Parts: sequence; C-alpha cells; structure tokens
Amino acid sequence: MNFLRRSPTSLPDAEHKTEAVRTMFDAIAPRYELVNRLMTFGLDAQWRKRCLDSLGLAKGNRVLDLASGTGDLTRSLIDRGFDVVSADLSFGMLDAGHDMAATVQSDASRLPFERGSFDGLVCGYALRNFTDLEACVAEMGRIVRPGGRIALLDVAEPTSKLMRTGYDLWFRRCVPIIGGLLSDAAAYQYLPDSTVYLPEPASFRAMLNTHHFSGVNHHVLSGGLSQLYTATKEI
Ligand SMILES: C[S@@+](CC[C@H](N)C(=O)[O-])C[C@H]1O[C@@H](n2cnc3c(N)ncnc32)[C@H](O)[C@@H]1O
Repeated sequence: MNFLRRSPTSLPDAEHKTEAVRTMFDAIAPRYELVNRLMTFGLDAQWRKRCLDSLGLAKGNRVLDLASGTGDLTRSLIDRGFDVVSADLSFGMLDAGHDMAATVQSDASRLPFERGSFDGLVCGYALRNFTDLEACVAEMGRIVRPGGRIALLDVAEPTSKLMRTGYDLWFRRCVPIIGGLLSDAAAYQYLPDSTVYLPEPASFRAMLNTHHFSGVNHHVLSGGLSQLYTATKEI
C-alpha cells in the first residue's frame, strides 16, 4: 500500500500531509513498537528514558503525552507516578496501545484542553510529522502552566562522516526493506525522508521562545541519531 502521495520522495504535499500521516500511522500501528525496537536496536528505550528523566516534575503532576501513538512514553510516565493524558491524531495508534490512562483523539495544532491545564508535556518522534509545527508549539505554550516543563524527542541525522554512512545504509536502505516485510515499505521509507521536516535547532529554539518557553536546551543523543529539546514555560 502506498499511503503517501509521492512527490519526488515518499513525502506528501502539504495539503495532504495530515491525512497521509494519519492513514499511515493507522496502518502501521499493530507492529509499530516492534519495528521501533528492531530498527533502533533497542536504543529508543534509552532515548525515551532520557526524555522522561529530563522532565524534572514531581510525582502526581499532570502530563500530556502529545502524539502519544501506542503509548510507549505514556506507560513509562504512569510507572513514574504521573497523572497522564495521551493525545494522538491516529485512532489506529491509540487503539493499538495498551495500559494507557485517558486517551484523546486530537490534532496537536488544536488541542481540546484548557489554558495552563498541564504541569508538563512530552512529545516523542512527532515534531516532523506535524503539518503546522508552529501551531503545535503555540498549543504547547497555551496548555502548559507557567513553570511547567516540556521534553520533545525526535530523530536526527548524524553529522560525522562515519556515523552518517552507517545511518544512510541502515535507515535509508535496510529499514524500508525490514519495514516492508514486517509492516509497510512506504511508511518506513517516509521515516528517513521525513527528516527534511525537522527544524534547525536555532529556529526551533526561537519558535519555543516566541511561545513563552525559556531555558531551551538541545541535546544530541547517540552521536546524532536522536535529539531532545527541553524547556520551561515562562512564569
Ligand atoms: C512516530 S509516532 C510516535 C509515537 C509515540 N510518541 C512514540 O514515541 O512512540 C508519531 C505519532 O504522531 C502522531 N501525529 C502525527 N501528526 C499528528 C498531529 N497533527 N496531531 C497529533 N498527533 C499526530 C501520529 O499519529 C503518530 O502516532
């Protein structure tokens, strides 16, 4: 199946991106977590732990797992004693999840939550999937209370030549084949192609500042395979 209207790559055009992304995640939901573990050799568990460690919130605090998918981060947040709400665009991803608390189907650019209603927010591997990233960041700024924390994790691309060669071989050549065998080839071709949507650190930092987040830190993980932004909502 090819869910993504192909421009020169697997990327959908802007007008169709939200629908293409939703359809793609609905379809790959059943094996999403399995393929994640395989294609990162389990490293994603470390990146997720780092994301949650960096939140710095107290047990019992209310945290939104934005674009939660099947709830990989949600379950760890619950284990750490947070009061968690999971929101995602894809019914298929939410439905394939388990041990989740409150789930809400919603577009990250129009969240059905009140201003300042969360102490914190995490978002795993979704920034590049948002059609209007700035609208989503504006929503983060609206729903997180002053002094609240955010931790945003996404893929990255290594800059060192050696790492980059290995990355290209694995993510651009092998992962689409493995993804095709276990799930959907077009979806796992989208994964490396969609890195073009990642914002540059300086411009994303500026975007976060515009929407009232300060103390922005950008962490490069595992030599540039993943990246993490943390910030605090201004008081
Ligand atoms: C790569 S998955 C990540 C899922 C989960 N956060 C994780 O860490 O495994 C990206 C998720 O973003 C969701 N998503 C994409 N665009 C969205 C949007 N505009 N609003 C809400 N969720 C969105 C997809 O449905 C998908 O579940």
